[in-house]
Amino acid sequence: MCGIIGYIGKKNVVPILIEGLKKLEYRGYDSAGIAVVDDGPILRRRAKGKISVLEDVLKQDEVKGNYGIGHTRWATHGRPSEENAHPHQDCTGDIVIVHNGIIEKYMDLKTQLSFEGHKFQTETDTEVIAHLIEKYFQENLEEAVRQAMEHLEGEFAVAVISSRDRDKIVLVKQGPPVIVGLGENEYFISSDVNPLLLYTKDVVFLNDGEMAVIEREGVTYSDFSGKLLKKKIDHINWNPLMIEKSGFKHFMLKEIFEQPRVIRDTLKGRISMDKGKVLLGEIGLPPERIKSIRRVVILACGTSFNASLVGKYFIEEIAGIPVDVEYASEYRYRNFILDKNSLVVAVSQSGETADTLAALRALKVKKPLTLAVCNVESSSIARETAGLLMTHAGPEIGVAATKTFSAQMTALMLLALYLGQINESMDKDTGLSYIKELQRIPTKIESILSQTEGLEKLAKKFISASHFLYLGRWANYPIALEGALKLKEISYIHAEGYPSGEMKHGPIALIDDNMPTMAIAPKDRIYEKIMSNISEIKARSGYVIAVAYEDDKEIEAKVDAVIRIPAILPLLSPFLTTVPLQLFAYYIAAARGADVDQPRNLAKSVTVE
Ligand code: M6R
Repeated sequence: MCGIIGYIGKKNVVPILIEGLKKLEYRGYDSAGIAVVDDGPILRRRAKGKISVLEDVLKQDEVKGNYGIGHTRWATHGRPSEENAHPHQDCTGDIVIVHNGIIEKYMDLKTQLSFEGHKFQTETDTEVIAHLIEKYFQENLEEAVRQAMEHLEGEFAVAVISSRDRDKIVLVKQGPPVIVGLGENEYFISSDVNPLLLYTKDVVFLNDGEMAVIEREGVTYSDFSGKLLKKKIDHINWNPLMIEKSGFKHFMLKEIFEQPRVIRDTLKGRISMDKGKVLLGEIGLPPERIKSIRRVVILACGTSFNASLVGKYFIEEIAGIPVDVEYASEYRYRNFILDKNSLVVAVSQSGETADTLAALRALKVKKPLTLAVCNVESSSIARETAGLLMTHAGPEIGVAATKTFSAQMTALMLLALYLGQINESMDKDTGLSYIKELQRIPTKIESILSQTEGLEKLAKKFISASHFLYLGRWANYPIALEGALKLKEISYIHAEGYPSGEMKHGPIALIDDNMPTMAIAPKDRIYEKIMSNISEIKARSGYVIAVAYEDDKEIEAKVDAVIRIPAILPLLSPFLTTVPLQLFAYYIAAARGADVDQPRNLAKSVTVE
């Protein structure tokens, strides 16, 4: 949520900041700004709207310099406007900051600082930080920042520059992620690694309570009390091409098409066909602790929640362990009924989702075994759990999660097999049949992706729809939720995901010829029940599209349109049913001219509560 960028070196800082902000734009895009320093005072340029608007402003009103900071905003306090866009400054304009996060009780600080004579220009919580630093500034910027930190509560990653203590960027972290990139005689700061890949792969991740002072000669790390720290340099193995569109119109479409690769990568090295086993020693949890697991609680939000629900069906079916999937934002305020035989799994693409992280931290008092299923190894969630099962999806830029959803399902299926192996609830032949089918999934998805014209044509019929119902049962109930979420977030069409069997208990009242239904109907153990649900809708003049196996000939006569997928072991059908639903949402949204990769009001990584 909000992206921070910064550079100090010999080059013109402006294009570096702008390119960096574009790579961070998925984190928030309601306004953006930069502040740069040359020989004179700090120069700020800000704009309401996307980075492209800021670029237009810079064309009219050029600035240059060889260090500076930038920000792309997702509004929390104060509406999106140029005035509320970062960077923010103190009364004099000598101290300028960018901030990601939320300052709690900022109104108390604002009142106090106003009483002391500080003049506020914005509605943001952020501005109090600039005035606090001003209050404590004598000669040294980091000292003033350190003193200001003592008065701040909440979550913040803040970068500060000052024309009164030049040629340095001071960076602090207490919550949201922030990284220092180490180049050759140049340094970068960023909210994530994406903007840095073009310049360096050597990075330092700040932890909470840490500060970095970045100067031309090098970087000094310390904690908030001033104690110097020696930090580990991490090497990032993502490459810059991974964050390009590679000829696709949108990142989302590219990422949907990447799913076969993502599943292969997430399976790679984790399956032994000879032994008919899953190899997950890498997750770092002792097998004897795993053997004692009697209950699994999965914490997640959004699409990760839906993938976790699929994981519930996998684990209960294969390992025979009861699984509760909880919205992290709700669970964190509950009475945690957990013991040492509970495994808590935090599922998060970014590893920085504030609700998931907070729930994880809160429940640790009960000392359960913890595991992260995560796409970013260096993220807070990945670092704060005892075990880590990485999804190897690579960077996901589209705000709507697609390839990471498939990667999460893959990781959770591997986990289910691993648990089943260790607690011996699954016989070898069953395990082997799942493993073999898992390996066939990428090819089956490729076959869906090789014939999308019909799907695109069908989707375009619904560009004026106002509502949509998504129905699924058993392992495909979560796919109904995910299909509806994708449509809502990128096309802004209202959609509901529902377990088909629940229809008759209320939602059936919604059915008429203006309420199309997407019914997920693979030939599984409850196929006949789904067909009955479809008949109930047809009897009430509802339009029904079914997602069905290629060899299911009987369904044709019972629905208005069929989207075909290859046949697959029913428990694994969510891997296939999800793909046409992603594409369906994509084609509708693209045809409506929606901003597919950056839907309104959203941000990719929700680092505030
Ligand atoms: O990074 P996380 O997986 O923890 O993010 C969770 C949700 O914010 C995320 O899945 C969100 O729902 C996406 N916009 C879904 O497309």
